[in-house]
Amino acid sequence: MTTHTGIGKTGQAPAAGAATRRPPTGKPALGIGLIGHGFMGAVHSHAWRTAPHSFELPCKLSMNVICGRDEERARNAAVKLGWRSAASGWREVIQRADIDIVDICAPPHLHGEIAVAALAAGKHVLCEKPLANSVGDALAMTEAARLARAQGIRSMVGYNYRRLPALALARQLLRDGTVGDPRRLHASYLQDWACGPDVAQSWRFDPGIGGAGALGDLGCHLVDLFRYLCAGDRIQAVACVQTAVRDPGQQRDVDDAAVLLGLSASGIPVSFDVSRVARGYKNALRLELDGSGASLRFDLERMNELQLFSDDVGVGTQGFRRMLISEPGHPYLSGWWPPGHLLGFEHAFVHQVRDFVLSVTSAADPAPSFEDGLAVQLVIAAAQASWECGSAWTQVAHPPVASDGNHRQEQR
Ligand SMILES: NC(=O)c1ccc[n+]([C@@H]2O[C@H](COP(=O)([O-])OP(=O)(O)OC[C@H]3O[C@@H](n4cnc5c(N)ncnc54)[C@H](O)[C@@H]3O)[C@@H](O)[C@H]2O)c1
Repeated sequence: MTTHTGIGKTGQAPAAGAATRRPPTGKPALGIGLIGHGFMGAVHSHAWRTAPHSFELPCKLSMNVICGRDEERARNAAVKLGWRSAASGWREVIQRADIDIVDICAPPHLHGEIAVAALAAGKHVLCEKPLANSVGDALAMTEAARLARAQGIRSMVGYNYRRLPALALARQLLRDGTVGDPRRLHASYLQDWACGPDVAQSWRFDPGIGGAGALGDLGCHLVDLFRYLCAGDRIQAVACVQTAVRDPGQQRDVDDAAVLLGLSASGIPVSFDVSRVARGYKNALRLELDGSGASLRFDLERMNELQLFSDDVGVGTQGFRRMLISEPGHPYLSGWWPPGHLLGFEHAFVHQVRDFVLSVTSAADPAPSFEDGLAVQLVIAAAQASWECGSAWTQVAHPPVASDGNHRQEQR
């Protein structure tokens, strides 16, 4: 197993030869390097720590280095989050011989530069959402991923909500015909953390760092879920309205709330609304999908449940049925607790690590791929262009590489 280097000097890589990819116990190990130790850095750390204990993986995971901008803070994060060493420069992380996977949890303006360099250095890359802040960066990342794929190097975007058991089950119900043909999709993602005056220092209000405000930050999840659930379909035209807080002393350069209307290639009307100033809503991602055979309802604040309405019973007893998604046969539940002992926000990230590691070790392409991330970015870009043109209907550019939004599901 990789030698423990201690948390001494930041950026201290193990001595050459100390990092072996085949520990004494026999199972090979993948060395992980994590960039960013904020909110997502902590959640991803938990996932790297937990996945091998909950799921059968063909290799060990060695949490070799965590990276931030400040030396002391990175060192403290390494101790707290369980990493073998700390670094204060991401370039040294991607050059380390004991790193196989680079996990990017830095703000979005850095995703492109780090991912392209890591892929060129032969590292597999897991990149937090959104893939990038601009279509140009997303295209460069997609091209780098394409070239790396030819060398067996994998890349994936962290659209974690795909890995919630309830939404993975929703997708199964769409694929097995239970829901029938989708006829309407409405989703909202509402938060209220940006109501206060003291939040303006966050990078999320700087378009050069955070990108397109609530639309880019929250809306990207909804676009990805559309692509995940309605695989094979695509949003082809959008119209968008946005607003930003205009209180005195609080001029914001990015949208705080947005509503997006879309039309899919197969004719499904889609509506998304997002806000970071929706008082009372903490992390409310809600989704309604009506199909020709059944309707589905999901609410992230009740993430262990999926509601299904179907007319397989008499009219007199019809209604939305609340299904508790905690049976061993439900997606991902084989790794967890007995029925009724519920999962939380962090579990989807554990599933994400599981799926990514299985893809890396089986030489399979993970999803959502960078092409999928680019496809989301093209919808967000079209929505912004629409708003800039008086909310005119705007065509979404086709991604240059076809992708159906599939991802590797738990096998059973
Ligand atoms: N999937 C989700 O549910 C979800 C939720 C929140 C955030 N995110 C995404 O995760 C990413 C990070 O968001 P966050 O909320 O963790 O942000 P954060 O501000 O909490 O943490 C950002 C981290 O990046 C580090 N960083 C910044 N510049 C750096 C540099 N040059 N080199 C190395 N490290 C650097 C900071 O030190 C900090 O540790 C963003 O892309 C965001 O959109 C995803």
